[in-house]
Amino acid sequence: MLEISDNGRTWLLTGPTSSYAIHLTDGEELLHLHWGPRIALADAEALAVRPLPEYWPFESPLDGHEEYPVEGGPRFVRPALSVRTDERRGTEWSFERYETEDDELRLRFGDGGLHITLHYRMRDDVVERWVTLDNQGAALELLRADSATWTLPDREDWRLSQLHGRWGAESRLARSPLTHGEKVIGSRRGHTGHQHLPWVALDTDATEEHGEVYGCALGWSGSWRIAVAQLPDARVQVTGGAGYDDSGLLRLAAGESFTTPVFAGLWSDGGFGGASRAWHAYQRAYVIPDADRDRPVLFNSWEATEFDISEEQQSVLARRAAAIGVELFVVDDGWFGTRTSDRAGLGDWTPNPDRFPSGLKPLAEYVHALGMQFGIWVEPEMVNPDSELYRAHPDWVQHQTGRKRTEFRNQLVLNLARDDVQEYLWERLDGLLSSAPIDYVKWDFNRCFTDAGWPGEPYPQRLWVDHVHALYGLLDRLRAAHPGVAFESCSGGGGRIDLGVLSRTDQVWTSDNTDPLDRLAIQHGFSQIHPARVMAAWVTDSPNAMLNHRASSLRFRFVSAMAGVLGVGGDLSLWSEDELAEARKWVTLYRDIRPMVQRGDLYRLRPPGGGLSAVQYVLGDETVVLAWLQAQSYGEPLPALRLRALDPTASYECLETGEIHRGAVLVHHGLRTGLRGDLDATVIRLRRI
Ligand code: DGJ
Repeated sequence: MLEISDNGRTWLLTGPTSSYAIHLTDGEELLHLHWGPRIALADAEALAVRPLPEYWPFESPLDGHEEYPVEGGPRFVRPALSVRTDERRGTEWSFERYETEDDELRLRFGDGGLHITLHYRMRDDVVERWVTLDNQGAALELLRADSATWTLPDREDWRLSQLHGRWGAESRLARSPLTHGEKVIGSRRGHTGHQHLPWVALDTDATEEHGEVYGCALGWSGSWRIAVAQLPDARVQVTGGAGYDDSGLLRLAAGESFTTPVFAGLWSDGGFGGASRAWHAYQRAYVIPDADRDRPVLFNSWEATEFDISEEQQSVLARRAAAIGVELFVVDDGWFGTRTSDRAGLGDWTPNPDRFPSGLKPLAEYVHALGMQFGIWVEPEMVNPDSELYRAHPDWVQHQTGRKRTEFRNQLVLNLARDDVQEYLWERLDGLLSSAPIDYVKWDFNRCFTDAGWPGEPYPQRLWVDHVHALYGLLDRLRAAHPGVAFESCSGGGGRIDLGVLSRTDQVWTSDNTDPLDRLAIQHGFSQIHPARVMAAWVTDSPNAMLNHRASSLRFRFVSAMAGVLGVGGDLSLWSEDELAEARKWVTLYRDIRPMVQRGDLYRLRPPGGGLSAVQYVLGDETVVLAWLQAQSYGEPLPALRLRALDPTASYECLETGEIHRGAVLVHHGLRTGLRGDLDATVIRLRRI
């Protein structure tokens, strides 16, 4: 809901539990008034007439109060907008008008020929903000154009939550006091990065289920930056957008425009758990395509066969996968060009004739005949120097004249900002998807930008932004032309996970770390912002060959992976009949609990970290608990799990044991898991009777 004061200078957006208010002063300063619990328009108007604190001359009264601080004038905070022309730098804007369309509010400002529009849309309790810059004057350079600045209320002792990591260890939750100055996270790598998810949360005294939490998440899959500033007077501002530095984002000639990505903000008074559930519901309703369609159980060949693949050997795996109940069979890297290792073939998107003599069609049809969907792996933005593509077009990669072309994993980055590169990729990928019945594409990205040059282009740094737009354009075009095909975003595991890529992919590859214990922490962090519906998780072989050689039971591996979109990635040709039979049981159980996991509400009952950890998913009258015991110490009895979101006056039947539990007992005294020893795990289904 959007309400506007009679004088047209105070705007109030309201969701089911929260409100967001902005005010334009008589001096044309756009001030932030409120973000928090629901308020009435009269409350916003009362806030609008409260004078700003007097601070002159060493502090600015505007700092910490402005909705979108531009560079220049009486401000010392980090500017959200920094513009340079031949004559001057900074912005002195005046208000032009406001507009509304459906549930979107637009506030239009002008500075000479540059028109700046702040966009707002409230979707449930998530405020979506973005900015458009439309240049109708002389050429200018956008040094920085953030999507939004979020202002938090005056409070003491703010805490910052963030999701940090690296390859194989993504999205680990860290929570620490916010001290004075700025905390800056981001990526200067050309993709979202393994190091930080573009999300922060701020609270003062929240717990998992109680207290106020503010969250901000950026929808951008290239380089990005979020700066969290604790200002001198207890105010906190969070500013974020595309690009890491302020050294130049784009040049806008007369008539050109730029739209920033969306920076979404959420207030919740339901603690960290309530905030996560609101983020999950928002993404399922507004971001993720077809989120009401459950994702199938997949098999992926990567850990099983790596680059050593053939049609016959994949057919053997497919038969075994079908036998344990897999629904989607994915051939990973190694099926195309001369790709028999990571040294060659990337860029040549035609099936390797030695490995697939009649193309992918026979295998795809065989997989379909076994009752499964068929998927493939691609990494379209990259090229091996040893490839037909690179030999034909060495100028198609990002590079600078006379400088080294840095190789990571023996590959270079294609300059997707070029029209000819985009067209080549479109033709190859469209042709590929038309050549065989392919239902799924895992889209990988395995190295960061290093030599982001573009010889001959007057403003080469535009490729950082244009690359992301080209990626989005290709995904959009392929989705439109092949509506039945689902896409997974992968970047060496979880290097490209953000709201931007999630609006055009169906799931993400969470991490190359498939160790089921490490995964619990990775999944715990991931769940702070993203829902299980997109969190792909595979059961692989034991001991874990990729990372740490940790041995674990099939039970522990399955229950860990069942907390997301279940997949199997082990070498099924080596699994015994007993293991295959057990795997089939777990897959059947997953298919039973899948609606709860993929569409239900998540309650994190106990975080991972040494002992017992557990999550609970709730959908309607059904609930399922997944619990893991890392290690039991001193033979001590484990705590019972106090369940959430149950009716204390109802009774619940445990589908595992047939036992009847009273809701009040489960909620107040808890459920006993019966776990023992090390690396034990269980799934407990309960149905209201
Ligand atoms: C990195 C991915 O994260 C893996 O799952 C696998 O697809 C390899 N790339 C293949 O090269």
